[in-house]
Amino acid sequence: MAEKIIIAIDGYSSSGKSTMARELARRIGYVYVDSGAMYRAVTLFALRNGMVKEGKIDVDSLVSALPSINITFQPTGEDGIQHTLLNGEDVEKEIRSMEVSGMVSPVAVIPEVRERLVALQQQFGKEKGIVMDGRDIGTTVFPDAEMKVFVCASAEERAKRRYLELKEKGEEVDFEEVLRNVEERDRIDTTREVSPLRKASDALELDNGSMTRAQQMEWLMEKFHEIEMKK
Ligand code: CDP
Repeated sequence: MAEKIIIAIDGYSSSGKSTMARELARRIGYVYVDSGAMYRAVTLFALRNGMVKEGKIDVDSLVSALPSINITFQPTGEDGIQHTLLNGEDVEKEIRSMEVSGMVSPVAVIPEVRERLVALQQQFGKEKGIVMDGRDIGTTVFPDAEMKVFVCASAEERAKRRYLELKEKGEEVDFEEVLRNVEERDRIDTTREVSPLRKASDALELDNGSMTRAQQMEWLMEKFHEIEMKK
């Protein structure tokens, strides 16, 4: 049995990271952790507890509430997808709403939020054998990850994917609104002070704009085997 490694998949919003990370983990028998879901769960908590007023976050209240926010993952739901639990409640559907998407990047800018979630993410990776996707996994959470992938595609292409995904789930959405959200999150994520989104110098770049899911998986599996063989 080859030694287990850590796989960090970072990239822009709606670049298909989560789908490819989940599928890769399933194929190689690793644990999958969606770090974005953790930022989304904290955002949902803030929204539900009146900590967002007229689009402004009450940072002090949210920071003092952080110790009482517990985020865990249920290995697989009935749909075969890992569900996110906020203080034991399954919030997988709620955290994907446009309301949460609209507030998550400003929440993810708060240094105390990042500090707490990064510590939790590092705990998840202690045993290795993990695929984690996000924005700062290869740069901050696991700078020593054996395999790092940075995913990119044009904002239009990404918005198109997200739009179809939301429509499929039955959400009433407007393409322009989705595109604006994707662009706004790109802007906040790349310009924030703490752990901005950027490609780690040792990350493999994957531009999946014109790749099918199957081609993407083939590319990932090939890279994984190359790295695993060198171990
Ligand atoms: O799925 P999508 O790419 O739209 O986003 P996500 O992975 O669910 O992440 C939602 C938001 O959380 C991002 O736009 C970032 O603002 C933030 N995030 C972060 O700051 N750091 C991470 N490691 C993961 C997500």
